[in-house]
Order: sequence, then C-alpha cells, then structure tokens
Amino acid sequence: MTWLLGICTLWLLIVVVSAQKQLNVVPGPQMLNVVPSMNINQRSGLQTECVGNMMKLTVDKSLALGSQLEFDAVNGTQIEPLTPNMAAKCGFSIDSDPWGNTKVFASLLNCFAGNEDDAVFDINMRIRVLGIKGGQDVFEVQKTCNYNQWAPREIICDRNYMEVSVNRLPAEITAMRTQSKLGRGQVFDDQWVDTVPEAITSSYNIWRMVFFTPKQKAMVLEDALRTGYGVMTTKSRLVLRSAYDLPETYVENANGIPMKVIRVTTYFKKQWSVTMLDTIAACPTGGLVFTDELITWNFPWINPLIASAETNIIEMFMGIDGKRIDSAQMAARGYSLTIVDYQIVMKLPVGGPDGYYKSHAVNNQYHIRYAIEPMLELLWRDSGVDTTRYKVLFPIKTPLMPRPPRFVDNSDSQLKVFDVLLGVFLYDVELVNITFSGGVLTVAEATARGFIIQEQRFQNGSKAFRLQVPFSDPFVVKTRADLVVTVYTLGIIYGFMILPEHVPFSYSASVEVTLQDIILPTLNGGCDKENFHIQISFGNLGKNFNVMLGTQDLTPERSAEYGVSENATHMSFVVPFLASDVAFELMYPTSLRARLDVLVWEPVNGWSLGDFSIACNFPITMTECFSNGSMSALAVKVESLNQLSPRQLTLRDPSCKPKFSNERFAYFSFDANSCGTTRTFYDGVLMYQNEISLADVPAYQQPLKGVPTTPDPEYRVTVSCFYRLNDTKTVAFFTKPRENEPLPETGYGVLNVVLRLAMDGSYSQFYAQEDYPVIQYLRRPLYFEVSLLQSTDPQIELVLEDCWATLKDDRNSTPRWDLIVDGCVNLDDGYETVFHPVPSDWVQFPTHIKHFEIKMFAFMEQNVILKDQIFVHCDAVLCDINQTDGICRKRCPSSNPLKTNKVRRDTSDQLERTQLSSGRILLLSS
Ligand SMILES: *[C@@H]1O[C@H](CO)[C@@H](O)[C@H](O)[C@H]1NC(C)=O
Ligand SMILES: *[C@@H]1O[C@H](CO)[C@@H](O)[C@H](O)[C@H]1NC(C)=O
Ligand SMILES: *[C@@H]1O[C@H](CO)[C@@H](O)[C@H](O)[C@H]1NC(C)=O
Ligand SMILES: *[C@@H]1O[C@H](CO)[C@@H](O)[C@H](O)[C@H]1NC(C)=O
Ligand SMILES: *[C@@H]1O[C@H](CO)[C@@H](O)[C@H](O)[C@H]1NC(C)=O
Ligand SMILES: *[C@@H]1O[C@H](CO)[C@@H](O)[C@H](O)[C@H]1NC(C)=O
Repeated sequence: MTWLLGICTLWLLIVVVSAQKQLNVVPGPQMLNVVPSMNINQRSGLQTECVGNMMKLTVDKSLALGSQLEFDAVNGTQIEPLTPNMAAKCGFSIDSDPWGNTKVFASLLNCFAGNEDDAVFDINMRIRVLGIKGGQDVFEVQKTCNYNQWAPREIICDRNYMEVSVNRLPAEITAMRTQSKLGRGQVFDDQWVDTVPEAITSSYNIWRMVFFTPKQKAMVLEDALRTGYGVMTTKSRLVLRSAYDLPETYVENANGIPMKVIRVTTYFKKQWSVTMLDTIAACPTGGLVFTDELITWNFPWINPLIASAETNIIEMFMGIDGKRIDSAQMAARGYSLTIVDYQIVMKLPVGGPDGYYKSHAVNNQYHIRYAIEPMLELLWRDSGVDTTRYKVLFPIKTPLMPRPPRFVDNSDSQLKVFDVLLGVFLYDVELVNITFSGGVLTVAEATARGFIIQEQRFQNGSKAFRLQVPFSDPFVVKTRADLVVTVYTLGIIYGFMILPEHVPFSYSASVEVTLQDIILPTLNGGCDKENFHIQISFGNLGKNFNVMLGTQDLTPERSAEYGVSENATHMSFVVPFLASDVAFELMYPTSLRARLDVLVWEPVNGWSLGDFSIACNFPITMTECFSNGSMSALAVKVESLNQLSPRQLTLRDPSCKPKFSNERFAYFSFDANSCGTTRTFYDGVLMYQNEISLADVPAYQQPLKGVPTTPDPEYRVTVSCFYRLNDTKTVAFFTKPRENEPLPETGYGVLNVVLRLAMDGSYSQFYAQEDYPVIQYLRRPLYFEVSLLQSTDPQIELVLEDCWATLKDDRNSTPRWDLIVDGCVNLDDGYETVFHPVPSDWVQFPTHIKHFEIKMFAFMEQNVILKDQIFVHCDAVLCDINQTDGICRKRCPSSNPLKTNKVRRDTSDQLERTQLSSGRILLLSS
C-alpha cells in the first residue's frame, strides 16, 4: 500500500515538475572575463555559463585550430594543470567533440574556486593552446557564479567523478544520523548525539573517515587525499569527491541497473567531542537500451540514495550538455522523460542535432556511432524532511553501427567511362588514395592522370566519392569474352582516413562493363590470270590473329614467298594459283578452277575471326597439240580426289607413264601414233584422243584381304587434239616470211599445208618466195604440189577439193576458171588439168602430197587478153585413208560426156577445208 501511494505521489510530482520548469532558472549573472596573457587574438571562442551548481566553459574549435588544448585551474597565484587525476579529484571534467569544440564542467565546489559564504563562487582557469613549434597561447578565464539554493545534500555525477556535498550544520547532522539509522543502520553507535555546534564549524578538523566498500575501511584524511579522493569543507558543507575507479568505490545493482557508489562516514573531532557525517554518492553506469532509432536511458528510481519508498520527487529536469531544456525544446527534439515502474525513462532519438555522429573502422569495416550527453536533474525529499539535489551528466555513445557504404555503378558504356559512386560517409572521412590493379595513386596523382575524383556533399554534411576512369586507361583490365565482346574491369581499393584520429580503412570494389565493341578482321580479294590477291583489314584490335591459308598457317617463309606487306591497318599478299596452299576444284580444257581458303584465327582462344574463300578460273594449257602430231597433256589432281597419286596415272597404254609428276600434277607427252591414241575424222577435222586414268594396280600392290580400304578414285581424263589445215602460215607464195612457229592452241592443232610450184615434172625443185612472180609461156605446163607438212600420221590423206585460177589476187574475184572441182579435174577445161600420182618410195607419207599439172593460160574477154597473169587457188581437206564416202573417196568420171551430168555440190557440206593460193604467175608473151 505504501508503495502504491509512493507511485501515485511520483506521478503527481511529475505534473508539478512540468509546471515548475519555467521557474527554475539558473541564477547568477553571466560574466565573461578573458585575459590573454601572451596572445591577445582569438578571444571570441570562449564562453562561460553558470549552470546550477556547476560552471560550464565552452572553447570553440576556432580557438584551438586543431592544436591541443590544456587547462589549468588557478587559485590566486597557484596554477595547477588539470591532469585527469587532478580533474577528477578537484571537480573538473573536460571533453572535446571531433571538431575540437571543448566543454569543461567545473563543480562550484571544486578545489580551486573562491567561495564566499557558499553563495558566490569565483572560478579562474587558464587555457593553453599548444602550438606546433612548442610555443603556446594562453587565455585566462574568470567566472563568478552565484548559487545559494543548496539542498542539504547535493550529488553530481559528472563524466569522470562523483561528488556529494552535505550540509554540516547541526540540524542536518542530526537528521542524517536519524536517516542512517533508518535506512542503513551500519554506522557507529550514537554516542555523540549531543555534539555542540561549535565543535564542527572549523574546517579541516576531520579526525577519521570510514569508507564502506561495503566493508568498512577507515582512513585518516591524508590517506584519503593521497588515494585521490577530494575531501573538503566549506563554511557550511562537507564535500566528498571520487573518481569512478578509486578502490573504495563499488558497484551496486539498483533495480537491474548498475550504479557506482562511494559511501563515507566522516568524523570531526574537536577536543572532547566527535561529530560524524554520512555521505553517499551513487551514479549510474548503465541502463541504456539502444535501437537503430532510439536511445532509452533507464534511471533506477529505487537506488542506494533513496532512504525509503515514501520519497517524493519534487523536481525532475532533463538537460543537454549540462543545461536544462524545457518541455517545448524536448518536444521539438523528440525527447521524452517519464517514470515507469520505478524507473525514470529518458528517450532520445538517434541522430538528433544535440549529438553528433562519428566514424569508426572496425576490422576495416565502416561504422558510425552517435554521441549525445543528456543530463538528468532531480530534487527529492526523503521522509518528508531532507531534500537531495541530484544531477547526472551522462555521456551516451551508441554501439558501433555498421554502415557499409553503397557502391553505385553509373558507368557509361557509350562514353566508355567507369563512373562509380561510393558513399555515404560522415564528414570525418577523407579519401587518401586509390589502389588500382596497376598501382596506388594518391587523389592528387589520380587527378593528374586524368581520373575525375569528386567529393559530393549532402546537406547533413555526409559525403560520397565519385570516381571516373576512362576505359582506355591502362589500369582498366581488358579481357576478350568472346569474338566481339570485350570485358572492361576496374578493380578499386579506396584508401580512407578517419580524421582527426587518422584511422585508416579501405573499401574494395570492382566494376565490369561488357561491350560489343570489337570489329573483326575483314577479308577480301580477287584474281588476275595467275594469282590470288588477298587483302585483310585488321578490325580494331590490330594484327592479333594468325592467318591460315588452305590448311596451313602462314609461316614467315611463305609470307616472304607471297610478298606479304602490311601497315597498321591492313595486310595483303599474292598467292600464285599453282601454290601448294591453293586447292584445285575443277579441270577445264583450257583452265583450272582453283580456290584459296583464307582463315584468320585468334591464337589464344582458338577463335575463328573470319574466313574467306575465293575461286577463280586460271587459264592453263592442259593439252598441247603440235603440228607434227605430238601431243602433251597435263593431269591435275583436284581436291575431290584426295586419294589420287598422280604418279600412278597412265595413258591408255599403261606403259605410257607421266614424263613428270609430283603431288598434284602428272605431265604426259606422246605421239599421235603411240600410247593407244585414237584417230577420228569429223568433216575434215582430225581428232586424236587418248585417256589418262589410273593404271591397274599390280596384284602385289593390292591391299590385303579383309583390310577395308577406300576404293581408288575414278579418274579418267580424255585428251583430245583437233587438227585442221592451216594455210596461212607456211604457204610458199606468201610474200612475207613467217615469223613465229604457230602456237598450238590447247586441244587444237593445225596441220600446215603448202601449195608450191615445182620447176618441172620431177617435183624435185620448187620456186621459192622470192622467185615470184613466176613467168611462163602460154600453154606451157605448171606443176603444182599441195603437201601436208610435218605430220607423221600415215593414216591421213590430203585431198584437193577445188582448185581454180583467178585474174586477181583475191581468190573470190572474177573472172575465175575452175581447175579441179569436187576433187576431180574440170572436164570443161580445154587445157586439161592432170593429177600425177606421188610415188610411194618417193616420200615417207605419199598420202600427204598431191601433184597436179595445168597449162599456162590467160583470161580473155572478146578475144583480148585481160591481163597476162593468173593466180591459182585450192581448197584442201583432210581425209582418213579408209574413208569411203564424201569428197574423200569421190570417183571422178574419166570424161565429160554431158554438162548436165555435173555432180552438184552438197551445200550442206560444211567440211573444214583449207584455202591455198599460189603467188602470181605471169604469162610470158611469145
Ligand atoms: C587558494 O587555495 C588555498 C588552499 O589551497 C586557500 O587557502 C586560499 O584561500 C585560496 N586562495 C584564494 C584566492 O581563493
Ligand atoms: C546524410 O544524408 C544522406 C543523403 O541524404 C543520407 O544517405 C545519410 O544517411 C545522411 N547521414 C546521416 C548521418 O544522417
Ligand atoms: C593508402 O591509404 C590508406 C588509408 O589512408 C593507407 O593505409 C595506405 O597505407 C595508403 N597506401 C599507400 C600505398 O600509400
Ligand atoms: C594501309 O594499307 C591499306 C591498303 O593497302 C590502305 O588503304 C591504308 O590507307 C593504309 N594505311 C596506312 C595507315 O598507311
Ligand atoms: C613434235 O614437236 C614437238 C615440239 O616442237 C617436239 O617436242 C616433239 O619432239 C616433236 N615430235 C616428233 C615426233 O618429232
Ligand atoms: C592458221 O595459223 C595462223 C598463224 O598461226 C593463225 O592465226 C590462224 O588462226 C590459223 N588458222 C586456223 C584455221 O587454224
């Protein structure tokens, strides 16, 4: 029931507290007195404030400018450097934020304060700014604070010390003893109840002190001071101060929350009397609950300082940085202060403007932490009698919160630039260097190299780092993913530094862009009559490929052979069509279809980058037909016959082997009369034919039985020579001598025929060219011979189809006189033309020669000789001696009985005939 009542009372009190807030204004005039002793500049960065039973000194970062600050406490002439131990012992705390703003709190009851009736306090301090070169600037601060609302007990929990001061006037002593008896009951016996007031009014007559840890431990004052405790009396108060870590402090669990406790009973002795004062301070060291958004600080209302459950809270305030704030400010910041289940609960949102964030690197991972320093001020009354003023300055740092930065890849494959953003980092992170695959660059070096590094600032002071690196930079690793795709990879290790502590950490990332940006080599080419001309354009990767011709790589030797020439972008070369890299596709009578396959391939991955095939017909002499009847033939191995060995080819007569052969060619040369050559006449055209094929493989070369073999390829090439008579070369009457032997055309030959005029009937001497014009008397005989030259074929016969005489050179001119018609002498001719047989013992091939005789005559018109000259012309054809029809075996009538009996020439007769003409034959007038 009592507890319930207590709670109700507390709730009521909170309402009161809220209502009272405006009334609780910190007393005392604001006085700022700065006396620079060595350097007069920069005094504006100092600010002092009286905040209840403390003084707050703020030193702006502009004063320190990054240099170290040191503080001294000053008492008249005594200057004492505030080392950490000294600060804790004497009631000072010093703390800086990351920018260098420093807050100093000094208890008004600190060791050095001037104290006037426990109501006016003078505090002097010195601030030393340590210069880089050992010099220092010194500023002096003096502040006077008025404070006369001392509660019987006042407790301060500062960052580094606990302080309790109690009223040492007799009324309070009595009250405290009573309280002790009620609450803890472990003090000395009450044998000094009747202590007279005078006994304790003088200072420093402390007889002994007993610390409770909670075991008793007695010390004399000197020992306590030496141990580091601050013990002091003022006109009306006893002050005890202890750092949190001194040996006689202990931890007590208050409703689940740890509190550091210092508890001392001090005995004052004067002559015959002893007075004792009980002092206790308890400060929370825990009670924090964090979420990402909220800090909750639970302060145990049931704690070692509270005597009973009937304790009433009279005032409750929240403050920040040692200064109270009102409910409007609290609402604006989202703070709350409530009492729930015997706990005072303060809630502060994480990230509010009264605190600050700070960067940390933990295991090279980026973390941040939020720091804020709230204050809790309470005034309570125990058992309706004594009041305690309680103030906690409670610096809070959230646990480290991992804040892995986000790496955003904005790379533009069009612009070919890596563009990455890394953030968010707090204001205190600096980018120092970047490690690439090729090395480490400081920010300045990277900028000099052409990389763009930008620090992007957000409104809240956070930042992100933007880095741009062109794909073309050597630090960018380029790998070819496939034929046309390049992968650009940039490995980045950012080197960061957290200031001002200079804590390094790094962040590794890698970006990759895949681009279809490869232009493959292109190939093209053409042919002339003998060569392939190939050109390769490299594409955009230069000459990073190998060239394969046919089935073989282009070696340096063959590059030289093919005249490979190249510049930065192209290469070209010329391959003769008979080169070994060329494939033969087809044989034609006068040409060869040959193909060149060109492949460019990438040697690392073995990719084919492009191929090109070109096939052309190249003129080549496959068959030669010579006038003497000799023939030659070239057999070519085409690629479809890869089994073929040209060496094994023969003519029809298997003993007629190639005159020459190699891997791809076999060359035959043979006479029309040999090697199984056949002879056919087609309308006066003579055709010799043979065939090239694989000789029958002798039995001992046959493959073994049961061993499967591919059958020999069928290879059969017919070699044909067509011959006809050619009159224009070797005819004796030709005015100009022949200059060159006739070049035999492939597959076509000529048999040269001449018409000559013999000097007499013995046909042993003939007029030569220079003898023309030949002169003859009228009616005197002219002996003509038409002969086939060179041919050695006994099976052919030269036949004269028509012979006639003209007045003019032109064989088609008129007048004209027929001498031989259709192979027979013209029976209309009065001057009879006579054939003379050619004796077979006379010449080797009598059938190759025809002899005939005419009588010299003259063309007359109306009995007038037109001109005393004639020209003789003949048409000759070739015949098989065995041929039985046509002109070749015409039976000539012995006489000319009837003009009507003349055989009409078949107009459809398209015999190949040669045209022969004599030179001019002049009539010699007798
Ligand atoms: C300085 O401190 C001493 C004790 O350390 C005290 O006696 C003296 O009065 C103080 N002086 C002033 C000016 O406060
Ligand atoms: C600062 O602003 C950025 C961008 O708005 C945000 O991502 C970041 O979380 C903010 N940082 C803090 C500490 O609030
Ligand atoms: C790069 O910067 C990081 C972070 O400051 C540092 O630890 C590292 O030593 C630097 N590296 C080089 C090669 O300077
Ligand atoms: C390289 O050769 C090609 C073809 O021969 C020609 O078109 C091109 O202009 C040449 N390039 C240079 C840089 O000489
Ligand atoms: C025919 O002429 C050719 C070329 O002039 C020659 O090589 C060959 O030996 C000759 N043949 C005969 C049988 O005279
Ligand atoms: C006869 O030979 C000449 C000279 O070689 C040639 O120009 C002509 O075409 C040949 N005539 C025939 C019908 O073969």
